[in-house]
Amino acid sequence: MALNQQSLPHLSNPDAHAPADQELENLRRQHQLILNAVGEGVYGLDLEGHVTFVNPAAAVMIDWPMEELIGKSMHAVLHHSHADGSSYPREECPIYAAFQDGSIRRVTEEVFWRKDGTSFPVEYISTPMHDETGDLIGAVVTFRDITQRRWAEQILQRANEELEQKVQRRTAKLRHANHQLRELSEMRSRFVSMVCHEFRNPLNNIALSVSSLNRYDTQLTPEEKSRYLLDINANVERMTQMIDDILIIGQVEANALVLNPEPLDVVAFCRDLLAEPEHQRPRKPIQFLCRSTKQIVHSDERILRSILSNLLSNAIRYTPPDQSIHLKLAKRHSQLIIQVKDHGIGIPAADRRLLFEPFHRGRNVSNIPGTGLGLSIIKQFVELQGGTIEVKSKINHGTTFTVRLPIPSQA
Ligand SMILES: Nc1ncnc2c1ncn2[C@@H]1O[C@H](COP(=O)(O)OP(=O)(O)OP(=O)(O)O)[C@@H](O)[C@H]1O
Ligand SMILES: [Mg+2]
Repeated sequence: MALNQQSLPHLSNPDAHAPADQELENLRRQHQLILNAVGEGVYGLDLEGHVTFVNPAAAVMIDWPMEELIGKSMHAVLHHSHADGSSYPREECPIYAAFQDGSIRRVTEEVFWRKDGTSFPVEYISTPMHDETGDLIGAVVTFRDITQRRWAEQILQRANEELEQKVQRRTAKLRHANHQLRELSEMRSRFVSMVCHEFRNPLNNIALSVSSLNRYDTQLTPEEKSRYLLDINANVERMTQMIDDILIIGQVEANALVLNPEPLDVVAFCRDLLAEPEHQRPRKPIQFLCRSTKQIVHSDERILRSILSNLLSNAIRYTPPDQSIHLKLAKRHSQLIIQVKDHGIGIPAADRRLLFEPFHRGRNVSNIPGTGLGLSIIKQFVELQGGTIEVKSKINHGTTFTVRLPIPSQA
């Protein structure tokens, strides 16, 4: 549509003289109606960049009276600054480039300015205009306010980002669940192989003792027979202990274990526990550190015993006999704090994550016996009472387990 001031004088000046030629008049009128009806802004520029015509939609969008625009530098009117307010030199303007090199420019990332100093995002096309002889005589610019589109794009982008985040969160959850399932299945196979292994050993020992007793019945002295019987008994006890441990874990997991707290002097309780035969260390007896001589708390004695004796037996088991171990007891901020510190083999960092899982044992235990159930029982018991357990360890330097148990207010 080659429109310019010469072909449409009444667009820019409605009071212009009526042309003599009726046909030309009809054509101009038709062009004017088309321009008036177009929803996009349309304006024409001469080679100086001055407005030769402008349609009503353009005038409305930039909030200028149509007739005031004619002859004005459109760059100065609506394109003087960038979106950030910095000045937009005319030489850099793509609209002017269109009638300098005669090529079409399509721009989507700029703003036009209204008369009141506000701006709006636009999309525009600047098309060079030529006369009948092919000479460049200016440009026609069509533009559209893309505020709504931008808004919709932003909403869409935000929705996309949110969706992306949701997907990432879900994926992470699924990955975590997957990981847990894998761990669970690993744990189960560890459980089965450990149970088989741990039960087979005492069963083999029993079978061997029984067979010796049978075969050499007449040759054996009463002391030897009694040693075999004691051995059978120890192996039966070991298996019974394992079954009890597994049952306890099962009970806690099924929420079937009920706490039975009663007033208990924990200081006396610890002293008694340390006096028991399995906690004796002739070369370095376990040291007991506590500021109070008496400390009554409400606690389930059976469970407290299990926590403490498991921690102590670990310390004894994983510490050379000439290295020290101590048990520290304190009450702070309505918490009972139990600490068992040793100077033993320590726990490798790689094993700490799974330390409280049933049957998980440190890779440095070599041939020290154990099933890997003690800590998982302790953890279940501690959590059952709303407490926490923490471990600090350095390989070949020692390990400290700290248990914190809340003390009910009536204690
Ligand atoms: N004080 C400690 N020093 C070094 N390693 C320890 C200590 N306590 C626990 N561990 C490590 O944690 C692992 C798990 O301990 P846990 O008490 O659960 O099982 P266990 O001692 O192997 O066998 P049991 O079921 O007979 O107690 C141990 O095998 C050992 O590797
Ligand atoms: Mg143990």
